[in-house]
This record gives sequence, structure tokens and C-alpha cells, in this order.
Amino acid sequence: MFFAHAVCLAAASLVVAGVVRLFTVRRFYRGLPGPPHSLLLGHLKIIGEYMQRLPPGSHVQAAITQIQQDYNLPDIFYLDLWPFGPRFVVCSGADAAAITTTVSTFPQSKLVFDVLGPTIGTTFIEVTNGSLWKDLHRVFAPSLTPLSVKGYHDGIVDEAAALHGRLQDVDVVDLNYELGKFTFAVVCNVLSVTVKHGAYDLVRHATRRMGDCLGSNNPITQWFASRDVKRCLKSAAAGMEVLPRGGLPESVLVENAIGFIIAGSGTTADILSYAFMLLGSHPDALKRMRDEHDRVLDLRPGLKELKYTTAVIQETMRLFPVGMVVRSPPDATIQHRGKTYNVENQEIMVPSHTLHYNPEYFDEPGKFKPERFLGEFPRNAYRPFERGLRSCLGQNLAMEEMRIALFTLVRSFDFELQEPVMKQRFGHTELDTKIGVHAFQSPGFTAGPHGPVMMRVTRRRTDCISDHRIACSSVE
Ligand code: HEM
Repeated sequence: MFFAHAVCLAAASLVVAGVVRLFTVRRFYRGLPGPPHSLLLGHLKIIGEYMQRLPPGSHVQAAITQIQQDYNLPDIFYLDLWPFGPRFVVCSGADAAAITTTVSTFPQSKLVFDVLGPTIGTTFIEVTNGSLWKDLHRVFAPSLTPLSVKGYHDGIVDEAAALHGRLQDVDVVDLNYELGKFTFAVVCNVLSVTVKHGAYDLVRHATRRMGDCLGSNNPITQWFASRDVKRCLKSAAAGMEVLPRGGLPESVLVENAIGFIIAGSGTTADILSYAFMLLGSHPDALKRMRDEHDRVLDLRPGLKELKYTTAVIQETMRLFPVGMVVRSPPDATIQHRGKTYNVENQEIMVPSHTLHYNPEYFDEPGKFKPERFLGEFPRNAYRPFERGLRSCLGQNLAMEEMRIALFTLVRSFDFELQEPVMKQRFGHTELDTKIGVHAFQSPGFTAGPHGPVMMRVTRRRTDCISDHRIACSSVE
């Protein structure tokens, strides 16, 4: 009897504590900038409504962008997703985004640590802060400078030639898978990492499954996904050989090798996949790129001449940023344009997607217009690799790989996406009418295409590969 009373009392106290917590959290948002807020559901209701308008399994960034546009939200606004998600302060204006990344360097978010720490490892550079981050940066950054990346040119060309060879006799292929093999091999070579057979498939599976750790609100789904990711990465790491560096213990080098491979291969393959999808659905841009390649002919001196190709890559990364950056604020407030914002118990989000689709910064943002990157563009509003000290360490390598891959493949093959187009769903983009479901990214380690990117690959009358060097002969 006494036991039953005690249980009832404990249950009642828990309910009361829950209700008090709910109203304390919700009350915090009264009068703060943000979309319509419900006392019971916070912003979960509105986010849920917008997510329902997206194809199932889509990344939340498109919903946030559309909400920001529909409610004309200011440069800094709040998103209350408690208790199923974080409490966010969203820095969606160019100057506001700089507060956490270039004006100051806010620490990496504990949300990133909670997902990547238990799966990739707590010493992977992207999850670290403070002196450990500095040590790792000192060790890894020198091998990814523009000058070092030049030294990898021939190796990348070799891998691009191998990819070219694999595409010779295919009909319809998952291009994202093939591009991933290319980028995987490049990162392993650059880091001097030797992996066992099958490692690519294990890492790829883990990278995709991370979407279920990040994108799901269901703790059981998250637990199973996290266990699956850990199992695959452990298996990929077994038998991995890494080059000794900077006196770091082998376990740290292996965790970072896995982390760099994940951060560097899927991301670059996803952007390249989008570039092929966009070129396939925009024949004028494809022709202009091929004309440029015909003019340049030899890649090594000509790489920096590939201005239109570079613009295509930049525009692709504007339309499909790999996700939003999140930082933990070191203080209880931030200042912006003379106003003070309370950021206690909040995470700060820099939604590159929302910035990239803002018509204040980019004219007709829902359209694929590579020309916009041939001239000046608002650099603070363009953040595909983020900006500041914690920006992407592999950006020079990624740009080099993407230019070489496009140069190698675009003159040799036609690519046709095997995906039905859709009706336009949201005002901020019309790309669903061109590339269907892929117009809305889906969450993995980063935001990428929805599942396989099935493409018909047809050989053109050209022969671009000779002697492991690209010396293109005539095309049309
Ligand atoms: C198109 C390809 C790529 C894109 C769009 C991209 C984008 C990004 C972004 C936005 C961040 C910041 C993430 C954050 O702060 O939470 C980042 C960080 C990082 N990226 Fe990339 N990345 C790409 C390719 C690569 C490559 C090729 C490598 C390495 C081989 C790489 C290694 C890293 C690392 C190590 C970090 C963490 C840096 C730090 O925390 O100091 N990335 N990347």
C-alpha cells in the first residue's frame, strides 16, 4: 500500500515538474522574433507542417528557409523545438552569421559532439574544441593548403581516369556511388591511408545511416542507427594503416582518418552528383562548360582558367549546401546591430541554405545561374564551406577534385537523370520541376541527394584520357 502511494506521488511530481518545465521553456519565447509559437508545442507545430510539404525523409533546412521567407523573419530569430529537438537561435543574415564564425570563433556545438563523438570518435577534429583542436589543426592543415593540393594533381587525375574507365560501358548507374568511389580514393591517397577491401561500402553505409541519428526524433531509431554506424566504422577502421603524424597516438590518427574520409568523400561526391543533375537539366550551361573545356585542352596549366566550371561548382554548392553549422555560445548573450539577444540554453544555427536562397543576396535564388559567380558576389552570405577558423579544412582539395572530375567526364559523356520531375512545392526553389525529389536534400552525415542518383550515361564521340594525363582531342 505504502509502495503504491509512493509510486503515485513520484509520478504526480514528475508530471508537475514536466508541466512547469514546459511552461518555463515556452514562456522564454514570448515576444522574441520567430515564426508563430504555440504554448503547448513551441515551434514543433510549424516545423511539422512545413516538413509535411516536403518529400518524406527530407532535411529540415528547406523547411527553415521557407518559413524564414513566408514570415519575413529577421536576421536573428528563435526556433523552439524542445523537447524533441534543440532550442535554436538562428543567424540567417550575412552579418549575423559572422558573429559566431569570423567575428569570433564560437566552440563547436555539443550537438555535433553528441552525434559524431560516439560514432566517429571524440578526437576527430570536427568535434573537438580548445587545445586538442589546435593540435590537430596544426598537424593536418599543412597537407591541405592550396600549395599542397597542387602536389596531388596527378594522383587526382589518375583517379578521375579510373572513374572515366568505369563509366565507359555502363547504361544506367548510381552516379553518386561511382563518384563516391573516386572521392574516397582521393582522400585516402592524400592522407596516405591504406584501407582494406570493402571499406568504401562500409563508410558509405555509415555515412547514410548517420541521417537516422541526426534526422530522427525517435530514440529507438537513433540508438539502432548509432549502433549500426559504429559497427560499420569499426569494421572499416580494422586493418587501416595510417601514416605517423605530429607524434599523435595511432588511435587518434585512425579516428581522424575515418573522420576525414567521411567529411571529405560523401560531401564532394554529393556536390558533384548535383552538378551532373543540374548540367543534365540545363543544356545551355552544359554547352558553355564544354566550350570552356574545348578551349582549355590541357588541364594542369588550365585549371585556374576553368572559370565557368568553377562557377558551376560554386552555384551547385549555393543551391545544395551540405547542411547547417551549429555552435554553442560561450556567453549568455550575443549582440547584433545594437540589440542584445539572450542565447542561454540555446544552440546557434548558421543556416547556409537560408542565406543562399535569400533574394537580398542572390538574384532569383531558386534558379541555377552559374554566371552569378563570374563576377562579384556577397561573400559573407555565401558559406558552402563555412567561414573563419573552423571552416572546411578540405575546401582546396574539394575544389580541385570537382574541377578535375567535371573536366574529365563532361566532354566524354552525356548524363541523363532517371528521376521523375515534380510540381513546384515551395516558393524558394523551382528545381523540383527539373530534378524531382533530389531538389530537397536528405540528411546523412551531411545533406545530400535522396538515395541513389540513377543516371543514364552515354558515351560521346571523344577520347579525353591518355597517358594518365588529360589531353583532350576534338569532340563534336
Ligand atoms: C564539396 C565538398 C565539401 C563541402 C561542401 C564541405 C563543407 C564543410 C563545412 C560546411 C564544414 C564546417 C562544418 C562545421 O563547422 O560544423 C566543414 C568542415 C570540415 N571539413 Fe569539409 N567540406 C567538403 C569537403 C571536404 C574534404 C574534401 C575534406 C578533407 C579531405 C573535408 C574536411 C573537413 C574537416 C576536417 C572539417 C572540420 C574542420 C574543423 O572543425 O576545424 N571537407 N566542411
